[in-house]
Amino acid sequence: MPRSEGNVKRRSVTLHMVSSLDGFIAKKDNSVSWLDIPGSVYEAGVSISEEEAAAFVKAIDCYVLGSRTYEHALELGWPYGDTPAVVVTGREWPQARKSVEFYSGDLKTLVDAKLAPRYRNIWLVGGAMLCQRFLELGLVDEIKLTIAPVLLGEGLRLFGGSLPEARWNLKDVIAYKNGFVELSYA
Ligand SMILES: NC(=O)c1ccc[n+]([C@@H]2O[C@H](COP(=O)([O-])OP(=O)(O)OC[C@H]3O[C@@H](n4cnc5c(N)ncnc54)[C@H](OP(=O)(O)O)[C@@H]3O)[C@@H](O)[C@H]2O)c1
Repeated sequence: MPRSEGNVKRRSVTLHMVSSLDGFIAKKDNSVSWLDIPGSVYEAGVSISEEEAAAFVKAIDCYVLGSRTYEHALELGWPYGDTPAVVVTGREWPQARKSVEFYSGDLKTLVDAKLAPRYRNIWLVGGAMLCQRFLELGLVDEIKLTIAPVLLGEGLRLFGGSLPEARWNLKDVIAYKNGFVELSYA
């Protein structure tokens, strides 16, 4: 049963990424310890309870990710639960999870023909290559960028390629106690 009735409500694609202060989303060795920085406390920041986090995640109807992010997510421990996830890839993959399907082809067709009739709140969760392509094609409605309080010096750039100049409107800023800041643009 589709989660939205016949696409009555317009679909929304949210690009969500966590970046270092200097604009990297992954270290060269793919380690993720930089995402878990101990000891940093920003007193004026907020923290969210496990219940709030769970409610937030529950509102996401579908995740979309590139195959390299998929591989890394499997290695680290699948973070998307049983929520439907679409992996964009040109390769053949074994079916590791029931909730995952693989897609190869035009990305506008993916969003408009495959996802929009079924899902409303679609989250594009990486990596850099797939996000870049979505932005180039104008398929992103909202950008949620979480800035981690760390300089990495080198790694995989969030927006490495050449994107056309485009103005985005700031919609929200949330500073967390752990020093991370979430910026939302539409
Ligand atoms: N900090 C964060 O928030 C965050 C979030 C997500 C990921 N990451 C990190 O980012 C890294 C992965 O990012 P990445 O940029 O290297 O790779 P990616 O975007 O995750 O995946 C790239 C792959 O996706 C497929 N793909 C992309 N565009 C396609 C298209 N238009 N049509 C068909 N297939 C397409 C291709 O797969 P095939 O080669 O299979 O054809 C391509 O090799 C990992 O280290 C991950 O941990 C960080």
